[in-house]
Amino acid sequence: MTFKAHRQEEILTDKFNRVIDYVRISVTDRCDFRCVYCMDDKMQFVPRAQLLTLEEIAKIAQVFTELGVKKIRITGGEPLIRRNVIKLFEYIGQLPRLGELVLTTNASQLTKLAQPLKDAGVKRINISLDSLNAEKFKRITRVGELDNVLAGIAAAAAVGFEKIKLNSVILKNRNDDEIIDLVRYASDRNMDISFIEEMPLGIIGDHDRAEAYYSSDQIKNDLEQFFTLVATTKTTGGPAKYYKLAETGTHVGFISPHSHNFCDQCNRVRLTCEGRLLLCLGQEHSVDLRKTLRAYPDDMDKLKQAIRDAMLIKPKGHDFDLTEKPLIFRHMNVTGG
Ligand code: GTP
Ligand code: 5AD
Ligand code: SF4
Repeated sequence: MTFKAHRQEEILTDKFNRVIDYVRISVTDRCDFRCVYCMDDKMQFVPRAQLLTLEEIAKIAQVFTELGVKKIRITGGEPLIRRNVIKLFEYIGQLPRLGELVLTTNASQLTKLAQPLKDAGVKRINISLDSLNAEKFKRITRVGELDNVLAGIAAAAAVGFEKIKLNSVILKNRNDDEIIDLVRYASDRNMDISFIEEMPLGIIGDHDRAEAYYSSDQIKNDLEQFFTLVATTKTTGGPAKYYKLAETGTHVGFISPHSHNFCDQCNRVRLTCEGRLLLCLGQEHSVDLRKTLRAYPDDMDKLKQAIRDAMLIKPKGHDFDLTEKPLIFRHMNVTGG
């Protein structure tokens, strides 16, 4: 009788015994919107010459799956404005060891790209939507057109992704009066929705983040005036804690970096569009994978080792403090959240 030796699949762990099986890849820091909590009104973007090529991103993604990564999320900036980005989705979508390929987008390009994304193997899409009022939407995104975004959401719904989740950043006196409407909009379309506490990443001139803080508990309280929230154990591998609305079956997630820290459960790292592997959203610890890749373009073992070594410097968590100047000067568009 012969036995086939089962090769143990490698997994990445950090020094706090957290398993890292989720990578968020930012393919561009550029965006067609300028959301007030994400960017300043004047921003400098990475010069095109410094970007990883799509082929380099594909190689890094493949190596991560060989190291046990099961979930890859493509982010930006707005990922869908990068030229030929669908080719990258097609490549990553067929990697044999990947569990799911997912996307976070502002929906501005979805009327034309929803179908190619579905065809490339994208399972779930998270869409940023902070307001259903065109004027308020414009004020928050500075330039975004609500109609186009709603059309993009409808296009995504029509092609039949496994799940669409809306993401809303709630700011006091800006859109806290829209929480119920946003939940109803999601419920009516069989979508989930997550509410996100604003994080102090980069200096922004628009508002004082401490003053605009609207906690997950306040949002929950607002929702409880209209719905029955039932705690669930649902997880998508991200940081949201989910409740189910008894009335509609909608899952409402809360991403609460300030009020309910989730760093001890962290399972993710981020790749910037320049090839910097960031070990934590709220810290500067990083490793330059572009350098390794370009020094040894045909030796993926070097890249693998650089990634394994990087896990050792993954910090325990963030030190966000809304009352202080941001400690992290990198704006959110660099990491896509
Ligand atoms: P699911 O796969 O649907 O769970 O998505 P996700 O929550 O992992 O991704 P998404 O792009 O929708 O992110 C939602 C928000 O969660 C963004 O604002 C991110 O900044 C925030 N977020 C994701 N990961 C982390 C993290 O490690 N730390 C902090 N502080 N925030 C995070
Ligand atoms: N704090 C919290 N969320 C943010 N996002 C962008 N900037 C910030 C910030 N400073 C959100 C976007 C998007 C998600 C990926 O990150 O609204 O939904
Ligand atoms: Fe663009 Fe997203 Fe930042 Fe808004 S939050 S400016 S949509 S990257």
